[in-house]
Amino acid sequence: MDTKLSFTDATGFATPVLAVFAVDLATEKNAPPQPALLNAEGSILTAAHAALTSGEFKAALGEIAILHAPAGLAAERLLLVGLGKAKDLSLDRLRKGAGTAVRAAKPRSIRDLAIAFPNLTALPDGITAPSAALIARALAEGAEIAAPDYDTYSTGRKNPALDSLTLLAPTSDPEIQPAFDEGLILAAAQNFTRSLVNEPGNILTPTVLGARAKAMCDEAGLRCEVFSSDKIQQLKMNAFWAVAKGSAEPPALIVMTYEPATPPPAGAPVLGLVGKGITFDTGGISIKSADGMEKMKYDMAGAAAMIGAMHAIARLKPAVKVIAVCCSAENMPDGRAYKPGDVLTAMSGATIEVVNTDAEGRLVLADGLHYARTLGCTHLIDAATLTGACMIALGMVNAGLFSNDDATCARFVSGLQVSGEKFWRLPVTDDYRDQVASEIADIRNTGKTRYGGATTAAMFLKEFAGDTPWIHLDIAGCAWNEEKKPWIAYGPSGIAVRSIVEWVRSYSA
Ligand code: BES
Ligand code: MN
Ligand code: ZN
Repeated sequence: MDTKLSFTDATGFATPVLAVFAVDLATEKNAPPQPALLNAEGSILTAAHAALTSGEFKAALGEIAILHAPAGLAAERLLLVGLGKAKDLSLDRLRKGAGTAVRAAKPRSIRDLAIAFPNLTALPDGITAPSAALIARALAEGAEIAAPDYDTYSTGRKNPALDSLTLLAPTSDPEIQPAFDEGLILAAAQNFTRSLVNEPGNILTPTVLGARAKAMCDEAGLRCEVFSSDKIQQLKMNAFWAVAKGSAEPPALIVMTYEPATPPPAGAPVLGLVGKGITFDTGGISIKSADGMEKMKYDMAGAAAMIGAMHAIARLKPAVKVIAVCCSAENMPDGRAYKPGDVLTAMSGATIEVVNTDAEGRLVLADGLHYARTLGCTHLIDAATLTGACMIALGMVNAGLFSNDDATCARFVSGLQVSGEKFWRLPVTDDYRDQVASEIADIRNTGKTRYGGATTAAMFLKEFAGDTPWIHLDIAGCAWNEEKKPWIAYGPSGIAVRSIVEWVRSYSA
């Protein structure tokens, strides 16, 4: 899709479809909806008037109405896109609105779409409108994220992509174009992550994940090294190796480095992005039940998020050094697989009692986090589809956020306002340490009870972050959209890419 910005008046713009946003101004509970356009152009208001007063269109979030041959407009159709209650209007709702417009057009064989920039002067008092720049960025993101469908291996693929999308902005505010371009960069990175997560385990092995990361880095101008079994054993990443060795597929240790053009001063932060890249998780010898196991191809979503984030970082060029470390392997049962009861010596020197081979993510991350520290990272963030317990705690709406450092965590949280993603902080305080205490070794890889499982997993990781400020993102519940939404397809979500990039940019000197 060729997505562009044009400083053109929407009334006279010739297009198969012109999308305009609408909100519901009704405030009283049970009051009839009062749909109103976020647009002030007379001919657009006139064209929509009958539909808005008919009671058929309520301007609920994700709701659409299509009006053909609107009088007074150059567009062939006017597409009304609901954003919900006026008082709830947010950047994220605008992002979803742009996505809804794209996904409304796609199955209707419409190949070109224009979206009128929302005019927020009509909003009721007390609602602060976001800046035009942030709106442009959110609309670009929403439109691009809405574009793909993931029936990629279906021989009769439906719904081809749109050819073009034009955002029509009224006045040439100089901040709009760069923000719009940023939105395109972030969405492209997120869609790249989604394309990786969508791949089945037989196609996207650790080796292939490494090759895809390398190809991206070559194109984007990042340094990238992909190591396998020999180097992993040489580095004494025995926890990572233990998980990997039960598979016929060799593991991949993917290291991507971004250096700012102007070398940062000595002592400047170096950010470490660490991703869980299990390309298929059978559970190993502690094998999972068959029910839903096919989903475990997405157990590399954390690594994919880091690869996508590096793509955006290469293009946005923040003034901070970033190193990404992705630990990719397949978790399989086999004659050479690791077993419950095994004791491993991690790269850090800490000894780990394996209680359950299905708690493999924390093992590969333990070595990934430690390795990132040895590479000089001063701040760490990891992302992983780590625990079913996190899904039980937070559902599929918020992802889990854990940190050993409030200031580092606060930077991440403040970026969420811009990224629009939802993360909820859960504890990793030392009160929980006895849950992962082992009788035979330094630490065990599961909690002693199943309670607080997302936190016990985080407690395990915390041990390997040591005194380095660290954030852990448990994205198990949010990395896969189980339901289609009007603004996004079923399948991989690309969660965390935008928020990680926002966090990285907060360190840009
Ligand atoms: N990849 C899974 C976590 C997971 C489970 C993600 C369900 C998405 C949906 C992880 O490797 C795992 O198996 N975790 C175990 C840990 C347990 C053995 C302590 C879990 O959550 O059941
Ligand atoms: Mn597992
Ligand atoms: Zn797993």
